[in-house]
Amino acid sequence: MNTKIIKIDENNIEKDKVKEITKAFSDGKLVVIPTETVYGLGANGFDEEACKNIFKAKGRPMDNPLILHIADVEQIDELVSEIPQVAKDCMEMFWPGPLTMILKKSDKMSDVVTAGLDTVAIRMPSHKIAREILKDCKLPIAAPSANLSGRPSPTAFKHVDEDLNNKVDIIVDGGTSNVGIESTVIDMTSNPPMILRPGYVTYEDLKVLIPDLAVDNTTIDAKDKTVPKSPGQKYKHYAPKADAYCFVGNLEGVVKEVNKRVKENEDKKIAILATAETKDGYEGADLVIDLGSRENMQEIAHNLFEALRKCDTEDIEIIYAEGFDFRGIGAGIMNRLLKACGGKIVFGL
Ligand code: TXA
Ligand code: MG
Repeated sequence: MNTKIIKIDENNIEKDKVKEITKAFSDGKLVVIPTETVYGLGANGFDEEACKNIFKAKGRPMDNPLILHIADVEQIDELVSEIPQVAKDCMEMFWPGPLTMILKKSDKMSDVVTAGLDTVAIRMPSHKIAREILKDCKLPIAAPSANLSGRPSPTAFKHVDEDLNNKVDIIVDGGTSNVGIESTVIDMTSNPPMILRPGYVTYEDLKVLIPDLAVDNTTIDAKDKTVPKSPGQKYKHYAPKADAYCFVGNLEGVVKEVNKRVKENEDKKIAILATAETKDGYEGADLVIDLGSRENMQEIAHNLFEALRKCDTEDIEIIYAEGFDFRGIGAGIMNRLLKACGGKIVFGL
């Protein structure tokens, strides 16, 4: 398939380009669009065949449901059968933005989108280009992250191009994604509501509206082997090709332990995912990536997937990653790191 690239400047969104994308969605085509979290591989959520093609293009297991993206809360009525008050409150507070809500689905929703579940995931992105497209096409756009299944999610056009060129009809090049990790997923059908995937909208943010908010423990505890409530969480996502390890504890202890391991594995190509505070303390690694300052966790989230992809392009064999507190956006970062490491986490340093 010949993939067309459409470059859009978010400060000057040309109407004719938006119309071309709307037409492509109406015609059942696959279009990758930028969002504030990561790029999404989109299709008309009412078009079952087009949605099946999403799974084919990504190599995604059919039991992993898709998120529907909308521009306007009025679109929801067609997609769900009920909206609890707490979900309405969250919409008011966090939409548009990186929060996905799981709600009871309507009869109109295809089993392809929901992977046969009786619930459906919905989010209203805040990215300017995504919003213009969603407003114009007035369709719920089903879109998982626009990576090949198992690879880190794409936060820049070049990542999408690496994974999906020739597999989709159109890729919109809209620059880099600000947030850099995928949306927070919250199940509004359980009582109390439960976070199924931590993200940029944090536990602490949501707790203001939901005092008894629950968290699926498997998303933040590598040792918890129960089946995650969100189908996508059971797959080894975000996985770089290298063997990866994460180190949690006192920073001095982390640097010391990592330096020791680097020495023990001299023959291997090693990368360290470090922070501004520690990067100068490492010795002997082939690559030390500065994810940003620990004072600015948003910057670290923003840089994480790019760093994991860089390890792949540099043919890194071992990754040693510094860990973070599970507080705030740190929970989202640690969830992705734990998956990248396949749960190999070293505590107590
Ligand atoms: O930020 C994001 O959410 C990005 C952008 C493109 O919007 N999308 C994204 O989609 O990360 P995806 O498909 O890579 O992740 C969606 C997650 C998966 O873990 C999936 O299993 C879960 O949401 N999910 C979708 N529908 C669900 C449902 N009905 N019940 C439970 N989990 C669901
Ligand atoms: Mg994904």
